[in-house]
Amino acid sequence: MDNSLILVRLEGRSYDIAINHDQASGLADFVRRRAPGHLAIVIADASVSGFAGLCAQVIAGAGLRIEMTTLSGQEGLKSLAQASALYDRLADWKADRQTLVVAIGGGVIGDLAGFVAATFARGIPFLIIPTTLLAMVDSSVGGKVAINHRRGKNLIGAFHQPVGVWIDLSVLDTLPDREYRCGLAEVVKYGAAIDAELFAYLESHVDALKARDLKSVAAVVNWCCRLKASVVERDERDTSGERAALNYGHTFAHAVETMSGYGSWRHGEAVAMGMECAAGLAQRMGLLAPGEMMTERQSRLLSGLDLPIRLPPMKADELIDVMASDKKAQSGAMRFVLPRRVGTVELTAQVSRNDLASVLRDKGATGSSGH
Ligand SMILES: NC(=O)c1ccc[n+]([C@@H]2O[C@H](COP(=O)([O-])OP(=O)(O)OC[C@H]3O[C@@H](n4cnc5c(N)ncnc54)[C@H](O)[C@@H]3O)[C@@H](O)[C@H]2O)c1
Ligand SMILES: [Zn+2]
Repeated sequence: MDNSLILVRLEGRSYDIAINHDQASGLADFVRRRAPGHLAIVIADASVSGFAGLCAQVIAGAGLRIEMTTLSGQEGLKSLAQASALYDRLADWKADRQTLVVAIGGGVIGDLAGFVAATFARGIPFLIIPTTLLAMVDSSVGGKVAINHRRGKNLIGAFHQPVGVWIDLSVLDTLPDREYRCGLAEVVKYGAAIDAELFAYLESHVDALKARDLKSVAAVVNWCCRLKASVVERDERDTSGERAALNYGHTFAHAVETMSGYGSWRHGEAVAMGMECAAGLAQRMGLLAPGEMMTERQSRLLSGLDLPIRLPPMKADELIDVMASDKKAQSGAMRFVLPRRVGTVELTAQVSRNDLASVLRDKGATGSSGH
């Protein structure tokens, strides 16, 4: 495959996303050009310790001193306690503003290491080497970094753009199928919410994507990084509503994740269910452009990719209560990103509890609508 470079244009905070396959040699130069000093601190996911060790070797070959720490675990790692332990390591290694933090892992490691980099010494540079499909297409681009608080996911965080994103698709070879599918759910999100052409591409490449055909995976990663970059360029801090389009399905998804205790459902699976709820709600409210078969096409695509399209048997009322307390709910009104047609969404606050409850029950939730 051809290597490609995507620029995220954010004035003084601009950076490149390099996409390639098994090209560790290029990494040395990529990192050296972006490291302000002589020390690089690698924070890596233990599941990719072999790959991370190789990256560290290459970076050391570029003349940087390397310190490395490896962490295992999932969402629980995004905690203040874990951040604090990392501050200790950084201080022990005498990190300063010339030090480069290199995050190697999925969205969890990226969010955690990015948060630490955003706050240590009032902010030091960090570079991401994503190792999950989800991190490649979504979390590594855009500078949102965060840890969780018991009152809410990603409640403590910052905007801190990386100085570069290095994607090596070969690392996906070891990614478990379930995690891979979760990345595909976010890919479908881009298509359904902002790019009808991507959606059509996905519909015609279901088998290739399931087989992890390199050409198709590379095309999709490229496509999504470009989309994310352009959204972030227009709405870096999530204020104009543009970035909100990428939350399509997420209000529902977060409620499912919260109610299942972040245990039984992976984020991408919850997003698939959430998009089904959002499309169902748009249909019920008469928002969908006629003749497009949006709901049918989306269900077919998601189930074709082996993603869940029905909610688990959770109580509709409880799901609604969780959604109402979502941090994105503004002045009491629940806001939903709802589709108008494939590739176009809009933000709406005009959703009745009745419609919401009926759609949730249609999609597999249980219980009455509250009267
Ligand atoms: N910052 C953002 O804009 C943004 C956007 C979306 C999601 N996120 C965050 O991302 C997180 C989810 O990220 P994720 O889905 O990448 O989860 P993750 O980081 O937990 O990775 C998933 C699992 O895959 C393992 N793994 C990672 N790479 C592997 C590889 N190449 N081979 C084998 N195993 C591998 C990990 O150890 C983990 O068990 C959430 O915390 C979410 O809030 C952030
Ligand atoms: Zn998501």
